Amino acid sequence: MTATARTAVVTGSSRGIGATIARTLAARGHRVVVNHRSSPQAAAQVVKEIEAAGGTAVAHAADVTRPEEARALIARAVEEFGGLDVLVCNANVGLGQGEVATVDFEVFAGKVRDELAAAFHPTQAALPELARRGGRIVYLSSEAARGPAAPAMAAHGTAKAALNVYALCVAREAAPHGVGVNVLSPGLTRTEATEHIPQEMWDRMVARIPQGRAGTPEEIARAVAFLTDPATSYLTGQIISLNGGSHLGR
Ligand SMILES: NC(=O)c1ccc[n+]([C@@H]2O[C@H](COP(=O)([O-])OP(=O)(O)OC[C@H]3O[C@@H](n4cnc5c(N)ncnc54)[C@H](OP(=O)(O)O)[C@@H]3O)[C@@H](O)[C@H]2O)c1
Repeated sequence: MTATARTAVVTGSSRGIGATIARTLAARGHRVVVNHRSSPQAAAQVVKEIEAAGGTAVAHAADVTRPEEARALIARAVEEFGGLDVLVCNANVGLGQGEVATVDFEVFAGKVRDELAAAFHPTQAALPELARRGGRIVYLSSEAARGPAAPAMAAHGTAKAALNVYALCVAREAAPHGVGVNVLSPGLTRTEATEHIPQEMWDRMVARIPQGRAGTPEEIARAVAFLTDPATSYLTGQIISLNGGSHLGR
């Protein structure tokens, strides 16, 4: 680890895609704050794995939909590592599942609210720090933002579409301050969050992907590493699909 090592906060990195992003950024020399909401053991395990591989990480509990907890998360990175270079907004706040005809409005609107809060609060807390160091933000969106992806996922798609527009607005405001902001939009990916999908539905969803398979957390993490690499400093305001060609049709 060098004195010029960069610091990254990855929200929701106690498991799934976030944990893989944390391990990948650490392997590329970032000191990482592994955030979780309520899984201290899982977060500690991610930190242990990073340290065993020669990296540096700390775990920090914070519900990033809450402004004061999001501020404390960013402050932890600054206290612990002296600044912030990378914010990855990845936390998976739930799906708000239900058919549009019957879903309770509080469930629907609650999902949209939580999705935006989980991006908004860490972003507001992080922007001044990122501006000091020419930092980067990556938002984890979803191809569900393009339209109906799976049954009963209207709230999720609506929330991710709103996240995309929010991210572009952040990108525009942050650009003059030297902060690059992009969105990564994965398609179907195998994690704990998708384990519950019945095999028959999974097979139907995979059949619509031209590459004939779901993505992996490792592929997403490598794309995040690309978007946060100093070599891609002129890349901002982009929504990048990582979907095995799903937008091309089958
Ligand atoms: N899996 C897919 O197919 C897929 C496809 C497209 C996009 N994505 C996006 O990729 C991201 C990660 O998804 P995933 O499948 O890896 O999710 P996951 O396996 O369900 O992991 C969720 C992570 O988010 C954390 N979290 C949840 N609510 C939080 C909160 N309020 N504050 C802080 N952390 C919180 C969890 O921490 P605790 O354990 O403490 O609750 C956990 O670390 C999400 O934004 C998701 O929408 C996923």
